[in-house]
Amino acid sequence: MNQQLTIALSKGRIFEQSLPLLAAAGVQPQEDPETSRKLILDTNRPEVKLVIIRASDVPTYVQYGAADIGIAGKDVLLEHGGDGLYEPLDLRIARCRMMVAGMPEAVRQRPGRLRIATKYVRCAERYFATQGKQVEIIKLYGSMELAPLVGLSDLIVDLVESGNTLKANGLVPLEHICDISSRLIVNKASWKMKHEWVMQLINDIRTAVEADS
Ligand code: PRP
Repeated sequence: MNQQLTIALSKGRIFEQSLPLLAAAGVQPQEDPETSRKLILDTNRPEVKLVIIRASDVPTYVQYGAADIGIAGKDVLLEHGGDGLYEPLDLRIARCRMMVAGMPEAVRQRPGRLRIATKYVRCAERYFATQGKQVEIIKLYGSMELAPLVGLSDLIVDLVESGNTLKANGLVPLEHICDISSRLIVNKASWKMKHEWVMQLINDIRTAVEADS
């Protein structure tokens, strides 16, 4: 096949947990992104490349067709909005929960709206709107657990996996917003133009996901 297929994913947990799924589709990276500084990785198949980018950039690369396929957390997809891409497969990896968390004592009654620190601004806005609560969202880029400890916010919206980060910072999970896992996403044009190829990859990965559950 003459065409190229580009798969976008982030290094770390998603990369590691994607490896067996990609292997099931006959794709094996030739380098480890933890040790290589390369952003485009060759695979055992010359026509398939991996691009290694920040997790939150994966939907953007796929939306604009810079990658045909991506692997991204549902948290990132909810924030991105999903324009220009399909989300055909739940990979059931990198599973965690999106939660509201805070200090164990009752929520501080500050006059006015509750302050919520999060990097998941859209998710938090939607969630509190469905609760009929007026809140002030403070956008952060990481280490959300710090915000209630230093009085920046009353609550946080963040991902919780083991709960160890909350616990280590004296916070408790309060409300469950949604379950999160990584999804396979496909650029809409690639879905049409490279349909057979994309479907073959999806089917191979789906078989591996189902065999694992
Ligand atoms: C995530 C999340 C929490 C932590 C939860 O952060 O934002 O801080 O993991 O995991 P736990 O419940 O098992 O302790 P991550 O390490 O991915 O870094 P981030 O701050 O860049 O999101």
